[in-house]
Amino acid sequence: MRGKKVEQTIHPDPCPELIVERGPKDEGVGAWVPEQKHRLLCEYLHATRHAWKKWPSRVFIDPFAGPGRIQVKGEPFTRDGGAVRAWRTLADTAPFTHMLVGDINSERALACEKRLKTLGASVISIAGPAIETVPRMVQVVPQGALCMAFVDPYNLELLSLAIIQELAKLKVDLAVNFSTMDLQRNAELEFDPARARFDGTAPGWREQPSVLSASRPNVKAAFFKYWREQVRKLGFDHSREMPLVHNDQGHPIYRMIFFARHDLPNRIWGDVARGPNRSFSFDE
Ligand SMILES: C[S@@+](CC[C@H](N)C(=O)[O-])C[C@H]1O[C@@H](n2cnc3c(N)ncnc32)[C@H](O)[C@@H]1O
Repeated sequence: MRGKKVEQTIHPDPCPELIVERGPKDEGVGAWVPEQKHRLLCEYLHATRHAWKKWPSRVFIDPFAGPGRIQVKGEPFTRDGGAVRAWRTLADTAPFTHMLVGDINSERALACEKRLKTLGASVISIAGPAIETVPRMVQVVPQGALCMAFVDPYNLELLSLAIIQELAKLKVDLAVNFSTMDLQRNAELEFDPARARFDGTAPGWREQPSVLSASRPNVKAAFFKYWREQVRKLGFDHSREMPLVHNDQGHPIYRMIFFARHDLPNRIWGDVARGPNRSFSFDE
């Protein structure tokens, strides 16, 4: 079931007239987006492509989808965004029967829908905050479908546990972008009222004995552990490999964490994350 490394082909933009994701400062996204985040997601899909064939309904859920096209800083051309790359990965073997994409920005959600439709996908876009669109996405998933959810917010605050609780109603595996950089900036600040901004991500974390008793440098590790426990309580386990993605300056920015209800998908994610040359860091 394990596949070879997927090299990214640069496909022409199916809708070049539409908006492109260029990061929060409009300077282009980091090279790590296609090289690490999208590569991981798509190598996992590639490695599991034959397993997907067994399911009559195969659903990709991406509530922070962006417009489906990115431009990396310094590159003169554009590349597929996460949802489009995911679609292409399974298109020849076991194409997703439903692509559900959302974004708070309606122009982006619609652009993603149009790009996917142009490539032949059956797609529904729902514009709005993920916390509101995910319940609507869950409602349209056919009974008995196998789902892959890509939860890729810009920051940790947007990673509301309510989103994962809603997705947990499905037969779903989750690839989650967990911003460690946000935690670094905020959670260590013991008396900072801004800490409350993470209450939706891990409700109750500030009252947890493990957090309260943690020494200042350990608060963020205690938070991270508590958050994983909350997701595990929903019936998931996570892969031991939680690759830490670094920016161009070598600073860690987020982890890609994979949750599944069974051991095999987690092991496959582990194989993919370790990669042939162990290009990721796994430090806690
Ligand atoms: C990191 S980008 C997504 C990139 C995309 N997943 C990809 O891999 O190509 C995050 C997206 O989330 C959108 N966004 C911001 N806040 C949101 C919210 N509360 N709910 C849904 N989308 C949101 C932004 O407009 C942006 O397009």
